[in-house]
Amino acid sequence: MPVTAVIGAQWGDEGKGKITDYLAQNMDVVLRANGADNAGHTIINEYGEFKLHLVPSGIFNPEVISIIGSGVAVNPKILIKEIVELHSRGVETKNLKISSRAHLIMPWHILLDELQEKSSKENEIGTTRRGVGPVFSDKTARFGLRVGDFLQKENFKKRFQTLYKMKEILLRKVYKFKDLASCEEILRQYLEYREILLSYVDIVESEILVWEALEENKNILLEGAQGVLLDVDFGTYPYVTSSNCTLAGLCQGSGIPPTKINEVIGVVKAYTTRVGSKNQPFPTEMPENLAKTLRERAREYGATTGRPRRIGWLDGYFLQFSAKLNGFTSLAVTRLDNLAGIEILKIANPFLEKSPETKAGWLENKPRQYTRLFGWDKDISNCESFEELPFIAQFYVKFIEILTNVPVKYVSIGPERNQTLIRAQNLKP
Ligand code: IMO
Ligand code: MG
Repeated sequence: MPVTAVIGAQWGDEGKGKITDYLAQNMDVVLRANGADNAGHTIINEYGEFKLHLVPSGIFNPEVISIIGSGVAVNPKILIKEIVELHSRGVETKNLKISSRAHLIMPWHILLDELQEKSSKENEIGTTRRGVGPVFSDKTARFGLRVGDFLQKENFKKRFQTLYKMKEILLRKVYKFKDLASCEEILRQYLEYREILLSYVDIVESEILVWEALEENKNILLEGAQGVLLDVDFGTYPYVTSSNCTLAGLCQGSGIPPTKINEVIGVVKAYTTRVGSKNQPFPTEMPENLAKTLRERAREYGATTGRPRRIGWLDGYFLQFSAKLNGFTSLAVTRLDNLAGIEILKIANPFLEKSPETKAGWLENKPRQYTRLFGWDKDISNCESFEELPFIAQFYVKFIEILTNVPVKYVSIGPERNQTLIRAQNLKP
């Protein structure tokens, strides 16, 4: 399986970090392909518990080449902090590379994200306030600075000064914001980040590295951030992120041609969560009393912002949409253990004749029709095989296969690496 992609099938937080860390045991290259430090990939392994925002989740395998790809926007301050933390906890990063094409998040991006969010309650998205919308806007508007610009210090300084002036006018005149640090101060800060980053990571044309790996038939894993329903084109727009979280986005964020992808794993949480403003449509949201139980049990709080996640039933409609859009070849169902003890489990039925591309359309899709399944009581977190799961839990997983027409290959029953069941014979649904 030379190229495998790991993609969140819902609204993020599906457990992509855990699945990537698990699969990275057999990989040569792991590349984070999209998003920014809005992502929070939680990993628990022999080194402890980590929440990675930028560094690929393959970093724990010292043999793996870990790459931050061209589709990622990098806040150098956050990246440095993450690397320093990894070092302090005994994790090596000598094989960490970063694409020269990755964009840099600048202080004005973070400010603009905040100011835009505060400007109207009605249009508030509930972003992570990491500067994601503004940095990707600047990327497409061609007003960005890229990691590769660090390699030519004098050019970096010049472009920085031009962009600073532009943003200063925007902030002062439009947003009436007067506290932007001086050009010299931010520049000094970024030149400092530059020095530190150059000493920690190689800035490379990462597409060349992956092409070489492809030629040598090495195993490559593309780690997606966010989830399909947060994709800027196909997600629940405008309540989305600003990058492409689909398979196509992962190809674009890595330089791997679509024809070279062999396996596309959709990561599906056994229920649904979403985080952000209350404006965001969430057709299968559970009543708060049940949501609260699940939230506490499963620690459903944002890994990046600490916000409580909203919780809902599995949504067959969105899962089918997600599977079609990405051509999943298999699924990894995560957090199945957290459903134990719920008497009746509901799954919203699919109805794919409608593709809801507008905000009104997403809202219109309420309410869902549900299939009701009996739940199970047994704690399944120590089961050692799929067959050892209670019959009804097995059926729940098989029901997901029927909904999506994609085989479930992995079932995660806890956060630890070894709490992962593989369905070896991988039956066709
Ligand atoms: P991982 O990779 C969950 C959500 C934010 C907000 C919307 C837009 O951990 O699955 P942004 O800051 O991107 O402009 O916010 O998208 N969001 C995520 N939700 N997991 C993520 O990443 C997310 N990244 C962004 O909460 O609703
Ligand atoms: Mg997250």
